[in-house]
Amino acid sequence: KEKTLAMIKPDGVEGEYADVIKKTILDSGFEIAHEIELQLNEDTAKNFYAEHSSKSFFPSLVQYMTSGKVVIMVLEKENAISDWRALIGPTDANTAKETHPTSIRALCGVDTGRNCVHGSDSPQSAAREISFFFDKSTSDVSQRHDEL
Ligand code: GTP
Ligand code: MG
Repeated sequence: KEKTLAMIKPDGVEGEYADVIKKTILDSGFEIAHEIELQLNEDTAKNFYAEHSSKSFFPSLVQYMTSGKVVIMVLEKENAISDWRALIGPTDANTAKETHPTSIRALCGVDTGRNCVHGSDSPQSAAREISFFFDKSTSDVSQRHDEL
């Protein structure tokens, strides 16, 4: 089965959406293989979103991601990567509310910046992001890492 990295961002945790999001995850056929709650520091947030370091919104993204605790999960399922992206909906929560009203971002997102959840966007991102947060010695994670 495929693995992806999911994150409930600070506004999702503060808004107490973690439980309903986890229920949606399980009801949608994913297994939660690993889960940690963390306060990201500035360096970790910058490294995690390094692909966006040249974007104008990068400072506000880092500030947002360090504004409170996040819940980070490894989700497992056939087609986990694309199915989780479909479940969270578009990046802009306002678009999500209009075009994907049953998506998670429609439920708890506010705008393009504050969109309450993250999902890996490719097998390469999933491998990088899972090993970014979870120890490679964890057998199922490292095995997946080798497959990709
Ligand atoms: P992630 O799952 O978090 O990676 O979101 P995404 O893949 O749907 O979007 P993308 O990787 O392009 O952007 C990463 C994150 O940067 C988004 O989820 C937003 O939190 C933030 N972001 C993206 N575009 C904008 C923008 O135009 N303005 C602001 N303020 N934030 C943005
Ligand atoms: Mg992204």
